[in-house]
Amino acid sequence: MSLLTDISWESFQKLTLCEKAPYFRSNGHEGHVIIAQQFDRERLDALGNLATRIRRIAKSHEGLDFLQSLLSHRRAMLYFSQPSTRTFLSFLAACEILGLKTGEVRDASTSSEFKGESQEDSVRTFSSYFDLIVMRSKIGGLAERMAWLLSNSERPVPILNAGSGKDQHPTQAVLDIYTLQRSFEKSGGIDGKRVVFVGDLLRGRTVRSLSFLLTQYRDVEQVFVAPPQLQVAEDIQAMLTSAGVQFSLTDDFQSQIPDADAIYMTRVQDEWDTQQGESEKADISKFCLGMDELALMKPASVIMHPLPRREEIAVEVDHDPRAVYWRQMRNGMWVRAAMIATIFEKHKRIEAYANEHAV
Ligand code: CP
Repeated sequence: MSLLTDISWESFQKLTLCEKAPYFRSNGHEGHVIIAQQFDRERLDALGNLATRIRRIAKSHEGLDFLQSLLSHRRAMLYFSQPSTRTFLSFLAACEILGLKTGEVRDASTSSEFKGESQEDSVRTFSSYFDLIVMRSKIGGLAERMAWLLSNSERPVPILNAGSGKDQHPTQAVLDIYTLQRSFEKSGGIDGKRVVFVGDLLRGRTVRSLSFLLTQYRDVEQVFVAPPQLQVAEDIQAMLTSAGVQFSLTDDFQSQIPDADAIYMTRVQDEWDTQQGESEKADISKFCLGMDELALMKPASVIMHPLPRREEIAVEVDHDPRAVYWRQMRNGMWVRAAMIATIFEKHKRIEAYANEHAV
């Protein structure tokens, strides 16, 4: 077993993402949730099945009471130093479903970071009071560093990465996979599907994490549609090449619509601009989905978006059954509840309850 206590931070940093992945597991499942690379297909299937069980159990008062009894002795810290609506709220709701009490810091200016405390010391402080830390940061790799730090402290509580820098958003990618599993459950699953990513693919961490997870499925083709200056980064292309995945890059969205099984839209991530007006140089008008584009889509295809959106999906599209982004967002709550339940080894009790009550 690979343990973060057995490796120095200097040595750990030098590992590839796939080499780091086993270090984030404990007892054969996720201890920390930090990078998409720690999820293989078996884990994705298990989390999807558990999310479905939690979703069904939570429909009844009695079922929700059962779920809320599971972790009523635990506390979770939601440390979001970068803006969020749905990731924050879905983690909050997931904690409530499982009975965890929560605390939060959403603005470092209200914490002692304002007085110069380091983020490392902040997280160590949270670990003194809470049993789980969910964190979002604009600093790439910070969640990794905190996972190593806490694993080597007297309070090795799990860290869940709710978005770090431009590099990783693993829990979003897992909920995206769950949405694809549910969307294609009557049409052969995710295997063999064609997924078309559209928009700012250079700075979208959800695309980076999901692109990796899709390599766990057979014969999934990935198409990246973006203006040249926002096209997916070379490290993702290299990862896909080494995984033997068929992929292509283009700036012609219209030509990709008729053969797409899933279209994954993204907004321009101009919060990462290094110069004023940098994003405005890209003409994103050709990377928007409206009623004309909808008319070109296959009847059984789906439109996804991690949200929030701007103008890249017209509001009228929301009424089409292929628009699954609102369901995708709600799926985040079930998937995050499944992750937390697994971390605290409550998955077997949930499975037993579901079997006993035939849900
Ligand atoms: N998808 C996502 O991360 O949304 P928020 O930024 O609102 O959390």
